[in-house]
Amino acid sequence: MDFQPILDDIVEAIRPELGKEGRVANYIPALANVPAAQFGIALRTYVGREAAAGDFATPFSIQSISKVFALGMGMRLTGESLWEHIGREPSGSAFNSLVQLENEQGVPRNPFINAGAIALVDRLLGHLDPKAEMLALLSSLCNEPVFFDEVVAASEAATGFRNIALANFMKSFGRIENDIDGVLDAYFHHCSVRMSCQQLARAAAVLCADGAHPFHADQKVLTERQTRRINALMLTCGTYDAAGEFAYRIGLPCKSGVGGGIIAVVPDTLSLCVWSPALDHTGNSLLGMRALEMFTSMTGLSVF
Ligand code: DON
Repeated sequence: MDFQPILDDIVEAIRPELGKEGRVANYIPALANVPAAQFGIALRTYVGREAAAGDFATPFSIQSISKVFALGMGMRLTGESLWEHIGREPSGSAFNSLVQLENEQGVPRNPFINAGAIALVDRLLGHLDPKAEMLALLSSLCNEPVFFDEVVAASEAATGFRNIALANFMKSFGRIENDIDGVLDAYFHHCSVRMSCQQLARAAAVLCADGAHPFHADQKVLTERQTRRINALMLTCGTYDAAGEFAYRIGLPCKSGVGGGIIAVVPDTLSLCVWSPALDHTGNSLLGMRALEMFTSMTGLSVF
């Protein structure tokens, strides 16, 4: 299939909608000023063919998309014991909700809500430097150096009262081993990574190739089973309380971030990244979601 004309058509269809609906995330002050009227899309097939359109080369804050790669690191390091600390069920509530944690004794529902990712970073800290390892992993997977946005990381540290509360709450249940400040510093830095759609489509290609490195096919970054499981968790938990809507309308494992990016995986076929900063009420990119729906309608690609 020639994907370039499809992506060009999607950009044409989205362009008149830019800036009309949705709101840029403003609870992180450093993200509040990102111009909303931007849209990019990029994909990479498991054999390395690429297509891209719109603002595909513009770097943005990957935010919660980093949680997918943190999970990959956690699975590689701690294996099954990871699941003694973090659940694997959809939360059905907002990504920064405190409510469930009280009822469930400080064990987060899954690794893709904020509490889950904070608990995951705590596990990683026992083995490695999560900040350095995140940059090394993402830079290797997309074949270009990527960096933290220190302004965004500092902005989150200064205003991340909910995340600070989540970390302290889990600590009160004895679920966090390390010093809270160190855990949150690594978590905020993970969220602050800046990448473009093209870089994220390349990095996420590991998930459409049974865990093989996108640029070195003979190198396994994840096992086939780990990759399948990450994709399963993305489908069920990757977009918070909109996971049902994503499965219904798009039919692919997806992971979103409040920077407006969404990665999507067609297993054994391709990985895709869309970006548009204006979000809907669930914190997912409004036009990004619409573009993914167009892509799966036009190509017939789906996991179902
Ligand atoms: O911790 C936060 O709230 C943000 N750094 C990440 C949240 C996020 O991207 C959730 N996405 N929809």
